Amino acid sequence: MTQSPNIPPPSAAAPGQGLDGAAAVTAATGEVHTAKTLEDTKGPTEKEILRVENLTVEFPTDDGVVRAVRDVSYSLREREVLSIVGESGSGKSVSSMALLGLLPRSARVSGKVLYRGQDLLAMRQKDLRSLRGRKISMIFQDPMTALNPVHTVGDQLAEAVLAHELVPPKHALERAREMLDLVGIPQAGQRLRSYPHEFSGGMRQRVMIAMAIINNPDVIIADEPTTALDVTVQAQILEKLLEVKDAVNSAILLITHDLGVVAGLAHRVLVMYAGRPVEIGATDDVFYRTRMPYTAGLLGSIPSMTSAHGERLRPIKGTPPSLINLPEGCPFSPRCPLADDTCRSAEPPLAPANGASRGAEGTEVIETADGVRIGEHLAACHHWERLAAAEDPTAFFRNGGITP
Ligand SMILES: Nc1ncnc2c1ncn2[C@@H]1O[C@H](COP(=O)(O)OP(=O)(O)OP(=O)(O)O)[C@@H](O)[C@H]1O
Ligand code: SF4
Ligand SMILES: [Mg+2]
Repeated sequence: MTQSPNIPPPSAAAPGQGLDGAAAVTAATGEVHTAKTLEDTKGPTEKEILRVENLTVEFPTDDGVVRAVRDVSYSLREREVLSIVGESGSGKSVSSMALLGLLPRSARVSGKVLYRGQDLLAMRQKDLRSLRGRKISMIFQDPMTALNPVHTVGDQLAEAVLAHELVPPKHALERAREMLDLVGIPQAGQRLRSYPHEFSGGMRQRVMIAMAIINNPDVIIADEPTTALDVTVQAQILEKLLEVKDAVNSAILLITHDLGVVAGLAHRVLVMYAGRPVEIGATDDVFYRTRMPYTAGLLGSIPSMTSAHGERLRPIKGTPPSLINLPEGCPFSPRCPLADDTCRSAEPPLAPANGASRGAEGTEVIETADGVRIGEHLAACHHWERLAAAEDPTAFFRNGGITP
């Protein structure tokens, strides 16, 4: 197996620890951190719960059309954790907000978002509102923007129940207490009467998780749920997310700009660049059988077990392209050490990139009843075979791009 030397197996890293393995032992709440990994949770079923087909989002602006999301397709199974990873501006949030009809009116959205076979993009607003927060819920990066400062946490949680269910308010409040308890808020009964500002950042994010699971959703979309928190609290929150996934049997779409947190946390990874998926596959495939130079660049910029904490090893030089004026050919070509004339003239399709060289190492591909292949390793690169042949694909980014 070809392997980047600074990357331990994903299963060896606890969620949120990143790949440097920093252990988080205590919580702000006093709870002991047990470092659960994805392997300790219930695995995905073979049933597809969400399928996104050719999702495209454009924003007309005075400067031109921003092509924020281009032809995004993926599938999510029950209880699966799929992570969407990419640099700032790569279209992670816009593609996820589009699923739930949360984009501004100016957005031009096309494609299909099939939730249990129903197309959310073709649904009436009223029906979509009824699904939102009940069957598909969202956790945002900053809980303060999602929580109302003038209402108690208990009232807000109860309101999330009452918005979808005709139950006595007392029952809704009791459910709120159970959820706070489940996400690890001590003295949940008393804390129901607290206001958001009376909680720490990590506790507020736990409240957001409670809010997201209170109606037993099938899918939780977590958009950078821990970016604003310190490393120790990040680990606890991500672990809590895995735990509640099992409690409510939901799938998670986990959005992050940090490939390091994905290890041990996601079954599959979708890497986005310039609004488009450039690599998708089982987490092990993406980490150890990397087939796209951009992914290799991201892996090479994760701090290793031996590097000083926070040190970036080999950052990818340059910046992502303008989404108004995308370069001709592969959008990564201006930053790619492997770029040649072919790359600069034609954008590579997202295509199977396993090939004979991968042999028996590849992850099993599941074919659903309607012929969708899940788990397939796809990459958008004309030269993926060069990565397949390399001992350490991250080395392409060493010394200004000398071939390993
Ligand atoms: N309402 C809008 N009008 C015009 N452009 C927009 C709008 N919303 C987002 N964009 C652009 O769409 C692109 C994708 O944005 P998005 O928020 O999805 O990025 P992201 O991958 O989530 O980044 P980050 O990691 O910073 O959250 C960006 O270039 C952004 O500027
Ligand atoms: S297509 Fe060419 S430029 Fe794009 S990632 Fe692959 S090698 Fe690099
Ligand atoms: Mg975002």
